[in-house]
Amino acid sequence: MTMQYPPEPFRIKLTEPIRLIPREEREAKLKEAGYNLFALKAEDIFIDLLTDSGTGAMSQEQWAALMRGDESYAGARSYHRLKATVEDIFGFKYFVPTHQGRAAENILSACLVKRDQWVPSNMHFDTTDANIRARGGRPANLVIDEAADPANPHPFKGNMDIAKLKAFIAKYGREKIPFGMITVTNNSGGGQPVSMANIRAASEICRRHGVLFFLDACRFAENAWFIKTREEGYADKTPLEIAQEMFSYADGCTMSAKKDGMANIGGFLALNDDDLALACRNLEILTEGFPTYGGMAGYDLEAVAQGLDEVVQEDYLRYRIRSIEYLGEKLTAAGVPIVQPTGGHALYIDARAMLPHIPVEQYPAWGLNNALYLLGGVRAVEIGSVMFGLQPDGTEKPAALDLVRLAFPRRVYTQSHVDYLAEIIVAIHQQRDRVPGYRIVWQAPTLRHFTIRMAPIED
Ligand code: F0G
Repeated sequence: MTMQYPPEPFRIKLTEPIRLIPREEREAKLKEAGYNLFALKAEDIFIDLLTDSGTGAMSQEQWAALMRGDESYAGARSYHRLKATVEDIFGFKYFVPTHQGRAAENILSACLVKRDQWVPSNMHFDTTDANIRARGGRPANLVIDEAADPANPHPFKGNMDIAKLKAFIAKYGREKIPFGMITVTNNSGGGQPVSMANIRAASEICRRHGVLFFLDACRFAENAWFIKTREEGYADKTPLEIAQEMFSYADGCTMSAKKDGMANIGGFLALNDDDLALACRNLEILTEGFPTYGGMAGYDLEAVAQGLDEVVQEDYLRYRIRSIEYLGEKLTAAGVPIVQPTGGHALYIDARAMLPHIPVEQYPAWGLNNALYLLGGVRAVEIGSVMFGLQPDGTEKPAALDLVRLAFPRRVYTQSHVDYLAEIIVAIHQQRDRVPGYRIVWQAPTLRHFTIRMAPIED
């Protein structure tokens, strides 16, 4: 086990204060928030790991680029800059800017998905899943079985099960499958990467059957780093070259620039097909904006273009991935059960394994998440039975796993924050018997986790 400290490959020029409010205040605020961390004021949080989406710090070059933002309605210089960057990294013929990732998913689904058609993926993120369903389609998750076992250290646990994909296409045929997808990295399954061999194999099968193949590219650079460090034959390639090869197997991609675009907002759809691109652009004009800005300001286009140049830099990716791995090593050494191996953007704690005294019906991951706030002022997110347990018919069914995801904003927290996190999590682990389960006080009929009100079960 290496305990090597990964120093940040940047120094800090501008600071934003954060404050750990006293324990009694945290208790009062949490109670007032209905024991739901979504309902807190962000200023009452010390370390916010709710998401890595849109929460990153921009570089001096990005801030400088903002000043060069060209706000022309049509044909802006900033559009052409981003277009050239997207062409270089992603290599697709057309580029359709959108305000964030789900807007690209919406346009793609609206143009391709018809009622009762199926869209296979390794695992769809929930906005992709919802956009396919909104058009009457049916998303299917065909990730390898290893993904379901948190302790399994498979190096590419985000891989698509190629045998399942073959059987799926044989069963439904191209008429029923408008496109296939792979999400890199697999956010819904622990931030786990997908190997180049797997992307190539999935692409070959889709193309052989005339099925379009897209990547959900949100965390493409993190995925490229895992390929470089874990897959044979890629050690000497740059992350950019690896990304270019990944995209060469696809017919297009959806992208949330809020992740590996290193920006606070933005996204795009990129693709090769002429007719489909025309249809997507027409819809974009209706819902996002003129095709040369599509929901982004000129300065956003600049920030994303610069961010994409920076995200593939090796010293950044080495530090980024190592920092999360380092935390994983500290927790594993202390006996905290986490999803192995650590992911690219997040570390996931297996709350069901850590808190066996809390019955699954009492939401162990919710309990752990609230304990993180009470002890350390940390906000993460429950990915478990509160998020997924409510069935469309109103009944309750525990999720497959009860996890707490600690997602790391890019370039925001330092290694001393990471050490602090390790201390807090290990301290909770040492007194884990005292973490209570929770019961529901009030819930909305859909997406309940955002607004749910809960109460601890005291015995
Ligand atoms: N695809 C993946 C894999 C994602 O993780 C997300 C967002 C999206 C698509 C949608 O992009 O937010 O720009 O519309 N994930 C965030 C998260 C919200 O916290 O994991 P968006």
